[in-house]
Amino acid sequence: MDIRRRQIGPSYSFARAYEILMPIVESAGFSKRRRELLGQAQGRVIEIGAGTGLNLPFYSRDVDLVLAEPNPEMVEILRPKVEERGAVLLESTVADVFSCDIEPRSFDFVVSTLVLCSVPDVRESLKTIAKLLAPGGRFLFIEHVVTPGGYEIVQRLANPIWKRLAGGCHLNRDILGDFDSSDMVVTDLLRFNFPLGRPLIPHGIMGIARLKSDFFG
Ligand SMILES: C[S@@+](CC[C@H](N)C(=O)[O-])C[C@H]1O[C@@H](n2cnc3c(N)ncnc32)[C@H](O)[C@@H]1O
Repeated sequence: MDIRRRQIGPSYSFARAYEILMPIVESAGFSKRRRELLGQAQGRVIEIGAGTGLNLPFYSRDVDLVLAEPNPEMVEILRPKVEERGAVLLESTVADVFSCDIEPRSFDFVVSTLVLCSVPDVRESLKTIAKLLAPGGRFLFIEHVVTPGGYEIVQRLANPIWKRLAGGCHLNRDILGDFDSSDMVVTDLLRFNFPLGRPLIPHGIMGIARLKSDFFG
């Protein structure tokens, strides 16, 4: 799937807009969330949908890091940062969470931040993520989610135009609910107010999920 086709016109680049606008959200408090979560990653780690590399500064230098990013315009911004950090970069269809041909059960940690809002099918993506985890491994995630009540109406109304502007991002997904039918269980969860997110993105979730088979065999 060509992720660029979701963009609104030949001169608009979601990747460039993201690179320009996200530093404002980061300094309003989002980078603090990234630091809290990613400081826990150890060993062999794969990040799905690494985007422009905003998580890179928060990984320990000891981490053996693989980054997967299917959008070529994101990769253009990401590549020099990856070269500086020293990590493996998977791109093109190999990096798509639906077609990635990566050895199953080979990672201690899978990371994805602000990605499940954009994938065509959250449940299928969670299946792939679970397959990548070695026994005892952990999935670290941060997402924005549906906010029931008045905000949900705003999110539903804004969704069609937002999706076109923001690389296929859905404002109103119940991502936590999708874990219920996955092979993972959420063991740690923090709900937080998304910095500068109102009224479209009021709430975020951050947490850790583990394989159900680690608990139930
Ligand atoms: C909003 S950006 C988030 C980037 C980065 N993870 C961050 O936290 O800043 C969403 C990212 O998800 C990626 N993405 C979208 N669909 C994907 C898919 N099917 N497989 C893997 N990554 C995908 C996009 O290419 C983009 O880099």
